[in-house]
Amino acid sequence: MKTPIKIHIQPDVRLHQVSRYLYSHFAEHLGRCIYGGIWVGEDSEIENDEGIRIDTAEALKHLALPALRWPGGCFADNYHWMDGIGPRGQRPERYNLWWRQPESNQFGTHEFVRLCEMIGAEPYICLNVGSGTVEEARSWVEYCNTNQATTLVDLRRENGHPDPFNVKFWGIGNENWGCGGSMQPEYYADLYRRYATYVRRTAGEGATLIACGSTPGHPDWDERFLAAMKGAYRLVDSIALHHYMGQGIDAVAFSDEDYYELIGTIGAVDRRLTRATGLAQAFSTHGHRIDVALDEWGTWFKQATVESGLYQQNTMQDALFAAAGFHCFHKHGERLRMTNMAQTVNVLQALILTRGPQMLLTPTYHIYEMFRPHRDAYLVVCDVTGSPVIQVSAGNHRDALSVSPTLSKDGKDLFISILNLDLSKAVSVEMSIAGATDWRVAQVRRLATGEIRSHNTFDEPERVRPEEVPLDSYGDLSGLALPPQSVTTLQLEKEGVKE
Ligand code: AHR
Repeated sequence: MKTPIKIHIQPDVRLHQVSRYLYSHFAEHLGRCIYGGIWVGEDSEIENDEGIRIDTAEALKHLALPALRWPGGCFADNYHWMDGIGPRGQRPERYNLWWRQPESNQFGTHEFVRLCEMIGAEPYICLNVGSGTVEEARSWVEYCNTNQATTLVDLRRENGHPDPFNVKFWGIGNENWGCGGSMQPEYYADLYRRYATYVRRTAGEGATLIACGSTPGHPDWDERFLAAMKGAYRLVDSIALHHYMGQGIDAVAFSDEDYYELIGTIGAVDRRLTRATGLAQAFSTHGHRIDVALDEWGTWFKQATVESGLYQQNTMQDALFAAAGFHCFHKHGERLRMTNMAQTVNVLQALILTRGPQMLLTPTYHIYEMFRPHRDAYLVVCDVTGSPVIQVSAGNHRDALSVSPTLSKDGKDLFISILNLDLSKAVSVEMSIAGATDWRVAQVRRLATGEIRSHNTFDEPERVRPEEVPLDSYGDLSGLALPPQSVTTLQLEKEGVKE
């Protein structure tokens, strides 16, 4: 007899809070992310608010991204912030070294902060360590965050912003093992000490300083960097890893094996996060805690080349991958503070694609939207028994079902996301919820098209979008039907105490 598949949730057993910053994002001066995707300029025929595209800004506002990282990426360590302030007509033209395109500097600090204000995100600025100076970085912080009587503060006021921007998140360089200067971790640590000393002093104690962390090609970076920071750990608030997956795979014409392999790579990022959070804990000192960020992650497929401006399509595969990624991140506890998928518009695993005045929301966008209730909620204990397995690579398997239940801060809402990662098998599960509370299913939503390669196009922009599932099929939770390759969310409300 077949063993029934069971999900047992214990809302009374809270594990930890899911940092809302796990749902942060990243926008770089690269391809058509900023120029065309976000910024079109005031004279554009595309509807804009002082140069910022209204359609894109509204779609991003709906997601309420907690933080947005900018200006790069590799671009950050070749960016000189003073090029991007003052009257736009007088800003210098530069060349974007890494992404081989002209840089008009029309989108600078004020435009970025304004975008953040429009969409409700906290700005996260990455400073130039690779080709800049300590004073250039420090003065950017002074310009943004202070209000003393200085020439730079006067300049900010003249440029239209009397109040400080109060930027909380400051990255001290990007990928300094590569495009950010090809450094050794010990050399970077020495530079980090200098930069962070002046940035901290200028930004104030409330600022979060984020160090460049490892990538799969530089696995010992975190340990060597942290060891070299001995005596100055108070300068490191977070260490930020990068992890891209799917290289070599076609964004749309991938095989089923490619899909399973991609899902399997979440195991690798999981192991890296376990190691990094352990190291961060080990190097935290009494009174100063070091956290971990994953401030670049996502799919990077064959079509995303420098020539294409890292543009790629986004299919149901990306949606399932993003959802499985978030389930993994939820488990990493409070020490994993922030993740930033790359990138917001038209680049890599984008939320939004644009073509001239047209815009569409990708399957990945829908995962960010559907998972909003997880933010700041408490992950609770959940046991899944009898899950079918999928083979992710030769000899390696994982559960096809993935479940992540969170309880809202006030304890009144239980939100459960369930993934069936199998491409062909539907499953039926019995769900039970422990404790004395009676829960009422208030809403069930699903993202599933039955075709893993399906995606939205400018001709058919709503091919992939979440649907509401009729509640009558969910009544007592005893027979939840989960179609293959699906993401289902259940919103349960506290009804009272069980009789
Ligand atoms: O996101 C694209 C690029 O990937 C970033 O600029 C860089 O940091 C990483 O290598």
